[in-house]
Amino acid sequence: MILPNSSRRDFLKASTLAGLGASLASLAGAATAQAAGETRPTPPNTAGILNSSLGQTRPRPDGQRAVHELTTKPLERVRVAVIGLSRGMTHVGDCLNLEFVDIVAVCDLREDRAKRAADACEKKRGKRPAVYGGTENIWEEMVDRDDIDAVYIATPWGWHVPMCLRSMERGKHAFVEVAAAVTVEDCWRLVDTSERTQRHCVMLENCCYGENELFILNMARQGVLGELTHAECAYIHDLRGMLFSLGTEGDWRRDYHWQYNGNLYPTHGLGPVAQALGVGRGDQFKFLVSMSSPELGLTKYRNERKPNGGKHADEKYICGDMNTSLVKTELGRTIMIQHDVVSPRPYSRINAVCGTGGTFFDYPARLAINAPKTYDLSSSGSHEWLEDKDLEKMRQKFTHPLWKKLAELSKGGGHGGMDFVMNWRLMDCIRRGATPDSVVYDAAAWSCIIEISARSVVTGSAPVPVPDFTRALWKTMKPLAVAEQA
Ligand SMILES: NC(=O)c1ccc[n+]([C@@H]2O[C@H](COP(=O)([O-])OP(=O)(O)OC[C@H]3O[C@@H](n4cnc5c(N)ncnc54)[C@H](O)[C@@H]3O)[C@@H](O)[C@H]2O)c1
Repeated sequence: MILPNSSRRDFLKASTLAGLGASLASLAGAATAQAAGETRPTPPNTAGILNSSLGQTRPRPDGQRAVHELTTKPLERVRVAVIGLSRGMTHVGDCLNLEFVDIVAVCDLREDRAKRAADACEKKRGKRPAVYGGTENIWEEMVDRDDIDAVYIATPWGWHVPMCLRSMERGKHAFVEVAAAVTVEDCWRLVDTSERTQRHCVMLENCCYGENELFILNMARQGVLGELTHAECAYIHDLRGMLFSLGTEGDWRRDYHWQYNGNLYPTHGLGPVAQALGVGRGDQFKFLVSMSSPELGLTKYRNERKPNGGKHADEKYICGDMNTSLVKTELGRTIMIQHDVVSPRPYSRINAVCGTGGTFFDYPARLAINAPKTYDLSSSGSHEWLEDKDLEKMRQKFTHPLWKKLAELSKGGGHGGMDFVMNWRLMDCIRRGATPDSVVYDAAAWSCIIEISARSVVTGSAPVPVPDFTRALWKTMKPLAVAEQA
């Protein structure tokens, strides 16, 4: 999504909190405003964003019901549509491998991509889905069909919210890529619409289904890590090349680097550790403080390489190379979240959870536990990481049952198999009419960190309250179903 030049100029003038509000509104609102039809949401109002009481919960409007335990009619076959067929091709591929799922329609602005997806479906299943493409709003016709149960949304961030809203308004579940929304106001729109329509709005946080993430979840639930006190997570991924690559995410994702300064991609790291800590279910984010390092990496890369014939020379990036945020939860626990996509360093989501009984750190996987003898391990104590053979013993005991069940089937799948595990699990829940493992409250809580972190940075790292999208349900909400399987 490219903003008109006037929006760019306006933003570049803005370094105040008011400027932040305007930029967030323009980023999230540009696509919102383009989405036609009577369900078109009002473009975010800057004054509204700035005046909203971010940290407070809001009363549930009349006619809405909570969705934390929303169950739906079981389905013999799940009929899906997919919008956005770059990342969306992974979901197409996974759905084609689920014999109880039918892909009814596919859509991409780029018709060649929509046709390529339809070809893949026809080859595998002998039946061609309806193809929508060529114009920015053609997806609306697709989600208006009456033969679709769920819509996968894998488009640029600015399109996520309008696509989710219309899908739910038209009676479909919305499965949206990360992050679900960019602004707090848009997070509330997702929550309100899911509650009013009683449709699921699930963020496709595939990292919650990684082998190590599920291993941690299982150990946490079985008490191996004791009382959990702290977590660390991140999205550290050198994306400098991609950010300037034409015809890819770079076409729109780089925009956010000159629009504002904060954590632009919190959910891959945060989702799994939030699930382990029971955020939204027994605990809740309370407030966040954030600071950013100087912005140097992207500018240096752009200046030295002059990508795409030097046409990005005027772009002024403001997002600090490394953003570090700290969240305090209602139970007093702490979570560190980092974001760095412009430094030369190996990939890491850190993926660490610490408790009174043990500590797990990822990249590479390491586990220390208080009482190794309890588990019949030869490692001597908690001062060292377990020896490899002991870690393997713990994996044998505590690998999550979902991973054990799907490990073979997911081999060769996207992101080490976790994409398939996520899609299998989600579709299986929809088929049975069960509540998925994460609901709209999780999507909103994990995504809103984008705006909350930027607000803290722009106000000198002041604490910023994190909204309670569950409207106090977190105090009584039951743990995740996937954790209960253990
Ligand atoms: N979970 C993961 O591991 C993961 C990995 C990659 C991307 N993502 C997320 O997936 C989403 C898409 O990323 P991507 O890498 O595929 O981006 P991309 O830019 O490569 O592809 C987006 C696709 O959406 C299409 N599109 C844009 N506007 C459209 C519209 N109005 N109607 C129909 N189609 C439209 C584009 O033509 C393009 O094919 C993003 O939210 C991103 O953050 C998640």
